[in-house]
Amino acid sequence: MNKITSILLVGFVVVFGLLSCDSGSLRRTPGHIYAPDMTYSRAYDAYTSNPNFSDSLTSRPPVLGTVAVGHQLPDHLVEGDTNVYKAFTTTMKFNDEELKEGGRLFNIYCGICHGQNLDGNGPLYNGGNGKFAAAPANFKDAKYLHMPVGTMYAAVKFGKNAMGSYASQLDIKQRWMVISYIKSFQSKNGVDAFTMSSEKVNVAIVDSAKGDVIAVK
Ligand code: HEC
Repeated sequence: MNKITSILLVGFVVVFGLLSCDSGSLRRTPGHIYAPDMTYSRAYDAYTSNPNFSDSLTSRPPVLGTVAVGHQLPDHLVEGDTNVYKAFTTTMKFNDEELKEGGRLFNIYCGICHGQNLDGNGPLYNGGNGKFAAAPANFKDAKYLHMPVGTMYAAVKFGKNAMGSYASQLDIKQRWMVISYIKSFQSKNGVDAFTMSSEKVNVAIVDSAKGDVIAVK
């Protein structure tokens, strides 16, 4: 190839290269739409005007005085007063399924720091060698064994020092399910009785001399 041909070739490549970048107005018009109902929603989008309602709002506010199924009333716990935290509690009780769900949520959101064994040594902390420098609470430790559920709840809702809030990841019921999971774990380790179970536990009181059942509680 002689010099002139190579110069011409390079020139062509440069000119066509630049031309291909042209995004003139013609190129901005879309071509044929293959599946229009995927491009243009047939349902009303959340913030679009809606002719079916007199106020034209597509997003409807909840009906006054009602609570959506599966939701709880707001908890009204305000950040700051640790004495209020201690006294704060719930009347919610959970069945075995829900406790299991609490455990699943714990392993997703908390286990990374607090450890799946609840020993405060999750992979992020890893005995001080992990990426997270602050030591997470060890739920097996005496310091946490009798911790009031309200204090735990406040830690999940507002965070605690280096621990962030989990309020946006866990709704109110889920927070309590996670706490009931921690509490049931702690009670299995021989401390406070577990009181958040909805499963009725019958305990037979037996006359040890005769072997008769005296009462069932
Ligand atoms: C990023 C790491 C991290 C994650 C994830 C995390 N925590 Fe923590 N948590 C900590 C640290 C660190 C502390 C110790 C805070 C302190 O006392 O300074 C702590 C403390 C706590 C305490 C004790 C609060 C107190 O008042 O002393 C509770 C209860 C707790 N966490 C529950 C949870 C629950 C439940 C989850 C999951 C929803 C969770 N944590 C997720 C790091 C974490």
